Amino acid sequence: MKFKKIVILTGAGISAESGIQTFRGPKGLWQKYRLEDVATPEAFARQPDVVHAFYNQRRLELAKYRPNAAHYALAQLEREFPGEVLLVTQNVDDLHERAGSKNLLHMHGELLKVRCEACNKIFNHNGPVFSSTACPGCSQKGYLRPHIVWFGESPLFLEEIYAALKSCDLFVSIGTSGTVYPAAGFVLLAREAGAWCIELNLEPSAVAELFHEHYYGPATRVVPNFVKKLLALISD
Ligand code: OAD
Repeated sequence: MKFKKIVILTGAGISAESGIQTFRGPKGLWQKYRLEDVATPEAFARQPDVVHAFYNQRRLELAKYRPNAAHYALAQLEREFPGEVLLVTQNVDDLHERAGSKNLLHMHGELLKVRCEACNKIFNHNGPVFSSTACPGCSQKGYLRPHIVWFGESPLFLEEIYAALKSCDLFVSIGTSGTVYPAAGFVLLAREAGAWCIELNLEPSAVAELFHEHYYGPATRVVPNFVKKLLALISD
């Protein structure tokens, strides 16, 4: 078996066939909403209830989506691969964990968590939040925000992710347009560290040329096929 440490990066494309809208492209979320209005700290300072309403809606909708074959295949890979598998997702949905993935980092935050800007604690939260909602920890009102990384903010777990990228021997990017940094630059770090880099996506991403190998098609087809091939190598 050639590989021992795998880092997998996922983006909105892996959840697209579960029904969750991606961000870019003609039907993307950023066609319907201006990200400057709902996904920046400035927008939250200016109009907290508009920003809360945007995430309340997305949190509410989450219950109707289910993990798809691609999410399940990655969970199976983590269970059956004899080496290490770290899953880093840009997605704020919970479909990877519902499919059974455990070694998972949500670098752009999570829809089902809120954070208090007064006491800095993070809480699991499944329901609407308003600017009048009191923090379950410190009871102060007006300080809860979605636990989401907004534009202009630093992604979460970067130290851990960079360490994993520097020591992995296989890097796989799935369902991401390769346009948002630092995630779009992970391939370069992994490649420079000597990892074999594979892109699985519907179409070539903006950084496609940095990968050694590519498989294009819907995630529910391409990801299970890829996992099957990788697991078959174990017995080689
Ligand atoms: P994008 O919407 O930018 O890109 C989605 C990618 O998935 C595109 O390359 C599509 O071609 C591909 N895709 C669509 N359907 C697919 C399918 N069925 N199977 C496989 N691939 C498919 O989403 P991200 O790259 O995840 O950040 O966006 C990165 C970040 O930008 C997000 O985390 C979000 C966003 O603004 C924040 O909110 C901080």
